[in-house]
Amino acid sequence: MRYTISYVSTINSSLSKSEVKMLMDFVKDRNSILGVTGILIHTEGNFFQVLEGEQELVKSLFKKIKIDDRHHSIIKMLDTTTDSTSFSQYHSSFTVVSERDGQNELRQFLKKEKENNPGHFKSISYLTKKIMNIL
Ligand SMILES: Cc1cc2nc3c(=O)[nH]c(=O)nc-3n(C[C@H](O)[C@H](O)[C@H](O)COP(=O)(O)O)c2cc1C
Repeated sequence: MRYTISYVSTINSSLSKSEVKMLMDFVKDRNSILGVTGILIHTEGNFFQVLEGEQELVKSLFKKIKIDDRHHSIIKMLDTTTDSTSFSQYHSSFTVVSERDGQNELRQFLKKEKENNPGHFKSISYLTKKIMNIL
């Protein structure tokens, strides 16, 4: 069963720019290996993440993420099953976007979301655009 979890959180203020960059690179690589799709957006003071994948995997990943001290004040926005058939041809790496430099990546991510996660496209599209301040 495919599953989607999405949340927004506040970045730990002691985290340096290079530590954030290291985290983003790690998440992109690790999730692509795990077969987890979605997006991690880093804005000035917040993270926004969408995690999509096999239910148990996504849930256990989120448990780990929740206790990571690089961020706090996590607010979950989506926690739901996904129409798994729509993911049948889903070959995608995980997208990471920092600040406002990632509008191209965001556009490509949303295009794939529309095809592969149509049930949640509207909310995910709204939230990602809002968080990137382009609504
Ligand atoms: C905002 C944020 C998002 C994260 N997202 C992921 C993620 O999508 N996948 C992942 O493997 N780790 C993610 N992590 C890192 C995990 O919290 C954890 O450090 C990492 O999975 C290492 O786990 P391990 O000790 O089992 O190797 C994230 C951390 C933060 C602060």
